[in-house]
Amino acid sequence: MNLLALLVVTVLAVHVVGDGYTGHSISLDHKTRNVEHDAAIFEAQVKILGPKELKRFVQFGLTDGMRILDLGCGPGFMAEQLLIHFPNSHVTCVDIDEGLLEYNRKRHENWITSGRLTVLHEWANDTKLPSESFDFVLSRLLFQHLRSTNLVDPVCKEVYRLLKPGGLFVVVDSDQFFSDLVEPNFDPMQRVERIFFELKEGDTTRPKSDNSSGRKLFTDLKRNGFENVESEVVLAHSDEHGFECVLPVT
Ligand SMILES: C[S@@+](CC[C@H](N)C(=O)[O-])C[C@H]1O[C@@H](n2cnc3c(N)ncnc32)[C@H](O)[C@@H]1O
Repeated sequence: MNLLALLVVTVLAVHVVGDGYTGHSISLDHKTRNVEHDAAIFEAQVKILGPKELKRFVQFGLTDGMRILDLGCGPGFMAEQLLIHFPNSHVTCVDIDEGLLEYNRKRHENWITSGRLTVLHEWANDTKLPSESFDFVLSRLLFQHLRSTNLVDPVCKEVYRLLKPGGLFVVVDSDQFFSDLVEPNFDPMQRVERIFFELKEGDTTRPKSDNSSGRKLFTDLKRNGFENVESEVVLAHSDEHGFECVLPVT
């Protein structure tokens, strides 16, 4: 039997308008959460899907030397890949989770010291960064957390403000639809997976997440004035990466 998991990648070229916007907040309980555990999951995801995503980013127009912003960076495993593969680029990481940011800062201390990485505790919808200061903005697995607090449009507007004219915005998000692809069709497996997602939904130590976020990205970006929007699907297949990668049981 095999399973598929999905990341939808959306890219766009932008013409910038200045348009500041501030949204409202959600609260995260950092104290009862195990940051190491969460970081290990994010690391595994980047290990499996990161190389495939990077290829897409390059096809979309990411080149060395660009100024990169990683919105909702978490522990920064994707930022790390960007720093390795684009040695003349600077990466700015932004997140609201102080626990993950601390992990990020410790792990990437050398890059921070050498001036290639900046890690900031700010909201994605109100980064306080200067307008037109980035060539490439990445938002990986963030949008799924923005929907319950209506922050998708404010974040898109903030990215529009931050991008240089013609800059690129790549949104990577997941969609439950692809996780339901099981071959041969085996209903108990799908039920187990649903229970796993329901448990995640009930976990009050994490922000609410929309499991059908991926399919909404194209419209989100169009609605917010981005041009040349394209969508791509990047898959992790259990035949390729092992069963654990698509259904981590902890
Ligand atoms: C699923 S994690 C993804 C982390 C990282 N981008 C990755 O791909 O491994 C989502 C991240 O978004 C952050 N986040 C959620 N809402 C946010 C907001 N409004 N502003 C900034 N970061 C936010 C969370 O703290 C978390 O670190």
